[in-house]
Amino acid sequence: MTEITYSIRLAHWPQDREALRLVREKVFVEEQQVPVALEWDGLDPQCLHLIAEDADGNPIGTGRLLPDGHIGRMAVLKEWRGRRVGTKLLHGLMEEGRKKNFATLILAAQLQAIPFYEKAGFHAEGDVFDDAGIPHRNMVWRDS
Ligand SMILES: CC(C)(COP(=O)(O)OP(=O)(O)OC[C@H]1O[C@@H](n2cnc3c(N)ncnc32)[C@H](O)[C@@H]1OP(=O)(O)O)[C@@H](O)C(=O)NCCC(=O)NCCS
Repeated sequence: MTEITYSIRLAHWPQDREALRLVREKVFVEEQQVPVALEWDGLDPQCLHLIAEDADGNPIGTGRLLPDGHIGRMAVLKEWRGRRVGTKLLHGLMEEGRKKNFATLILAAQLQAIPFYEKAGFHAEGDVFDDAGIPHRNMVWRDS
């Protein structure tokens, strides 16, 4: 069987913005019907972004870390899901957060994605709330 390869690296905004836009628009805007205006919230230039690319350098996944320790915009193209791309991106963002000495990392998880984040050590806290028409809960990872 042919091995399917991909790699993950730090992205550079704005050089990689088009690649990140491709993934996020496919996943959030087209697939999940998030309004474009909410997807592009103006915070990207201050964030650290990771990008996953296939063997030809095409973007297949992304995620970001805000300066306050929030992780977000975790997205993997549908055809690439279930191959640990999301886990590697999340672990990479957690590692970047640890390098910045965050004792706590926070994210707002869509309810359907909670088991994915729990596997990385995040715990859901507080009530369900709506964001862009999708039910979410806050999740927290604490350095132990
Ligand atoms: C959530 C997402 C980023 C996960 O990426 P992925 O590459 O498919 O995840 P992985 O292959 O690393 O999965 C790791 C584990 O989490 C599980 N998992 C992944 N997504 C899951 C989900 N939505 N619900 C339940 N379990 C999930 C996998 O089954 C796997 O379990 P295992 O360790 O028992 O085999 C991806 O599904 C995605 O982009 N979804 C659409 C956008 C989205 O919902 N983003 C999150 C917004 S909060």
